[in-house]
Amino acid sequence: MSLFSRHSKVDNETRLHGAKLITLAEPKGPIAEQFRTIQTNIGFMGIDHPIKTLAFTSANISEGKSTVTDNVAIAWAQMDKRVLLIDADLRRPTLYSTFNVSNRQGLTSILTSNENSINVEDFVQASGVDNLDILTSGPIPPNPAQLLNSNRLQAFIDAVERQYDIVILDVPPLLAVSDTQALMRKLDGVVLVVKNGQTEKLAAKRAVELLRLSKTRILGYVMNDVGRDGDAGYGYGYGYGYGYGYLEDK
Ligand SMILES: Nc1ncnc2c1ncn2[C@@H]1O[C@H](COP(=O)(O)OP(=O)(O)OP(=O)(O)O)[C@@H](O)[C@H]1O
Ligand SMILES: [Mg+2]
Repeated sequence: MSLFSRHSKVDNETRLHGAKLITLAEPKGPIAEQFRTIQTNIGFMGIDHPIKTLAFTSANISEGKSTVTDNVAIAWAQMDKRVLLIDADLRRPTLYSTFNVSNRQGLTSILTSNENSINVEDFVQASGVDNLDILTSGPIPPNPAQLLNSNRLQAFIDAVERQYDIVILDVPPLLAVSDTQALMRKLDGVVLVVKNGQTEKLAAKRAVELLRLSKTRILGYVMNDVGRDGDAGYGYGYGYGYGYGYLEDK
């Protein structure tokens, strides 16, 4: 596989059972607080250039994208913002299992439809969380890269950002597949998820390079699993960073 896959650890837990929604399970706990901090800091980044469409990506798979994306979306909804959470990871979708809803139709149904005008409301589902709507991936197509590159996706994003305060996408990793870069530059901003002890420095640097090449606005990074080193047995932890000290190896 890729040059950077040496330490990558494929974890199918989220795909099978959904992401852990700590912001709902333990809203007053320290991890939920960390997700709120991430949400607040991203909000601050939007003062001059408003952020209405946002994604979290990572260098490789299984670095915590879905967990971070879903929990930050909930943190946003808990701030009384109207949020649409979209599963645009067409290779390893998880949103339907996280919220236990049908995936019979979703993003891919919209992107492959022959209809000229589409009613997004017909495809969006309630998440069960106040202010949070979800759009699952839909059936997985043989050509995800083409779909994520399409003008139809751009038109769809333009339409939904008028209907919601913020649109948050769960997307594929950057190094494993080519879909991600094209999608990223359609968004107002992207946050890189880096998994402590798993993401190689070189892989993280390459991911930043690719985002810059595609002229994506990088909002910062989430350092995932920060508790793992010193805190045996307690793996969850998230930190939010600006600048790229860690990533650029100054
Ligand atoms: N901070 C953390 N501490 C411990 N486990 C974590 C942490 N963050 C994520 N995980 C676990 O790591 C696994 C991968 O997380 P997740 O599915 O969110 O990553 P992903 O990047 O979306 O993966 P994929 O590339 O498959 O979409 C899951 O089992 C999740 O519960
Ligand atoms: Mg995922």
